[in-house]
Amino acid sequence: MSETTSNAIPASLPLRNDLRGEEPYGAPQLDVPVCLNVNENPYPPAPDVVDTIAERVREIAPTLNRYPDREHIALRKAFGDYLAKESGTRLAVEQLWAANGSNEIMLQLFQAFGGPGRKALSFTPTYSMYPEYARDTFTEWVTVPRNDDFTLDLDAAVAAIKDVRPAMVLVTSPNNPTGTPLPMDQTRTLLAACEEAGVDGAPEGVHPILVVDEAYVEFRTPGVPSAVSLIDGHPNLAVSRTMSKAFAYAGARVGYIAADKGIIDSMRIVRMPYHLSAVTQAAALAALEHTDEQLSTVAHLRETRERTAAWLETLTYKGRNLTVAHSESNFVYFGVFDNRDYIFNELLKRGVLIRDVGPDGWLRVCMGTDEEMDAFRKAFVEVLAAAEKEA
Ligand SMILES: Cc1ncc(COP(=O)(O)O)c(C=O)c1O
Repeated sequence: MSETTSNAIPASLPLRNDLRGEEPYGAPQLDVPVCLNVNENPYPPAPDVVDTIAERVREIAPTLNRYPDREHIALRKAFGDYLAKESGTRLAVEQLWAANGSNEIMLQLFQAFGGPGRKALSFTPTYSMYPEYARDTFTEWVTVPRNDDFTLDLDAAVAAIKDVRPAMVLVTSPNNPTGTPLPMDQTRTLLAACEEAGVDGAPEGVHPILVVDEAYVEFRTPGVPSAVSLIDGHPNLAVSRTMSKAFAYAGARVGYIAADKGIIDSMRIVRMPYHLSAVTQAAALAALEHTDEQLSTVAHLRETRERTAAWLETLTYKGRNLTVAHSESNFVYFGVFDNRDYIFNELLKRGVLIRDVGPDGWLRVCMGTDEEMDAFRKAFVEVLAAAEKEA
């Protein structure tokens, strides 16, 4: 994999003024031995899952002259079964919707609920793609900082919902890049605040939607409820999920959302016709036939996270202990480095790619295979030693 050079855009092109000088979003895709930078599940599908995927795609291949099922009913039913099993909540087809990654789910939400004169509110540091959806849909992006330990400042969040009057409130649980979970009582408090607040740019009686992005939720402590359990009775709640992370299916590009029928119907207005190809639908359904197998590495990745966090906490950098944020995800966020670029680049020189994202001084490492984590630990010890000498 290699990066293509960007921004060779001739000045004579009528690119939108606000997009001039902008770069395409994305973590580096580099050809290095150990890639721990985009929060994938490092374990590939098992051979029998690969066989089912190939078989199911083969079965639909003779129908590829026709457009796919625009409403992807079979897939929505399969997500209903998956969520019933994973979160204990049974939802109807009308309460589910899928798209090309939860990236597209989010974009559809912004297209339906954002727009000129509308605001979206979130709590930083958080997923760095959100402001791009806001930019692309001309939605004003408003943020409230999290506490120093990256938990939500609940009072500030509730006050902002009331004052800002956003159309959308986005909260990520577990959060990216920090791994911080949002406790259910706080989700309920945010939801109650949304159900009372008004929305700038909308008539009286309209309330913000609360979008809980649960991209990493399968990595949470077993037994902790998902926000999906709050959907019934809360028409302004949407819970976004993805097959890209725990489900080990990032390459297939399948995200989905659970919400009241009203939110799903709003998204159906802005979606491209036939946005989800027949190949994607068949591949997603095939993997969902093997749910247990696809999720079989989650417990091990959780253990890897706990071990890695505990190990990082034993290390010192320039005489100070490293700080490790509490994570319920498949990555660990750690710091604080005077010069994080140095640490990042020295790791890269040793063939280990992690992510320099969020507040200055912090780095994020995604959980890899045991061999990859061995390589990370070995390289990181060397880099810390080099950093001492560099000081
Ligand atoms: C919090 C969060 N939401 C959504 C996504 C997008 O995932 P995908 O489009 O692969 O479903 C990511 C990807 O890293 C993420 O970290």
